[in-house]
Amino acid sequence: MPYPLSPSAVDALRDGTPGARSTTHFNHAGSSLPSAATLAAIHAHLLREASLGPMEAGATSVEQTERARTLAAKLFNAQSDEIALTTGNSPGWGAAFAALEPWRAGQRILVARHEWGGNLATMRHIAQRAGATIEAIPSDATGRVDPDALEAMLDERVRLIALTWLPANGGLINPAAAIGQIARRHRIPYFIDAAQAVGQLPVDVAELGCDVLAGAGRKALRGPRGTGLLYVRRDFLPQLMPAFVDTYSAPLDAKGEPVLRDDAARFESSEASMALRCGLANALHEALEIDIDNIRARIDQIACNLRAQLAELPGVSVLDQGTERSGLVSFNVAGLDALSVRRTLAAQGITIGSNGVPYTPFDMTSRGLTQIARASVSYLTTDAEIDKLLAAIRTLAY
Ligand SMILES: Cc1ncc(COP(=O)(O)O)c(C=O)c1O
Repeated sequence: MPYPLSPSAVDALRDGTPGARSTTHFNHAGSSLPSAATLAAIHAHLLREASLGPMEAGATSVEQTERARTLAAKLFNAQSDEIALTTGNSPGWGAAFAALEPWRAGQRILVARHEWGGNLATMRHIAQRAGATIEAIPSDATGRVDPDALEAMLDERVRLIALTWLPANGGLINPAAAIGQIARRHRIPYFIDAAQAVGQLPVDVAELGCDVLAGAGRKALRGPRGTGLLYVRRDFLPQLMPAFVDTYSAPLDAKGEPVLRDDAARFESSEASMALRCGLANALHEALEIDIDNIRARIDQIACNLRAQLAELPGVSVLDQGTERSGLVSFNVAGLDALSVRRTLAAQGITIGSNGVPYTPFDMTSRGLTQIARASVSYLTTDAEIDKLLAAIRTLAY
């Protein structure tokens, strides 16, 4: 594949994506458009299950499960035994959090302001109920989490640092590796929510210095809905005791006792959608083939272009903070709420997202925001699609 992705390469990738013909999609941060080959992989397995019997189709399931695991390990610069296949970002992140030793009163969790609301809900549900506190690390002047401010907050009561690398409500990219260096130096467990990063940015768990990293299959990776990836650093795994186990995650030993698996698959169960795993394996294969650096370069170029042109429109405020930015472009249109912007565009066949406070409560509240519209791009996005989006927003803004 040439670098950067050439227009003809993008055309070919769009030709292999049914949704690229039927919708103008600017909600890749919500869920992207799977390729025809990914859909075919899912479909083929459903047909195998239908003709052989779902359990009898198992040999292919095992092969495709291990293929997905191996490819995910390659994508993250990890080992296969450090990867669990999950059903989404929150199921993986939440299962790892719930597997930590019980929380005690006075213990502290430090999060960036951009932490995903679902992770905060889990922290409140488990740790805050036990008397632990959840504290936001200050951001620097650009809005990114401030590593120096984190270092100044540390004491012996800090039990976890949690970072949402790319927030759900803006294009900012947090300095995840700099936070990882501090976590490593102070030997504090470090969880990264990489829901928006996987498939869009290079993810190197060694460089990030994280103990746990969760990702979603359906976003930039273009995998099927209902899939996710969980990385657990091998040395950290013994500190995680899953809240429940089954015959797969804890098979019986010779004495009939359940023995917890010694790999990250202790977070998997025997029952899963094998068809979706086949689709996930294909999406991982495609991302690695196209090459994440190529993907990152093209997304960055498209998002910069969209951001610059949106900012020129009267009545439109682009809200993205940070210095290095992702494919998510957040904005508001004066006099209109984000949901009605989304609905009006949807009526014209253009899909964007809109968020309220709950997805990123600390960040929205601290910036005095109650809602944002978000147009998120992929390497599939074309100039013609951007022109269509801008023309539609231009008529709204008057
Ligand atoms: C940053 C972030 N974390 C977590 C999630 C939740 O992912 P899932 O729905 O796969 O649990 C999202 C979803 O948009 C997200 O943007």
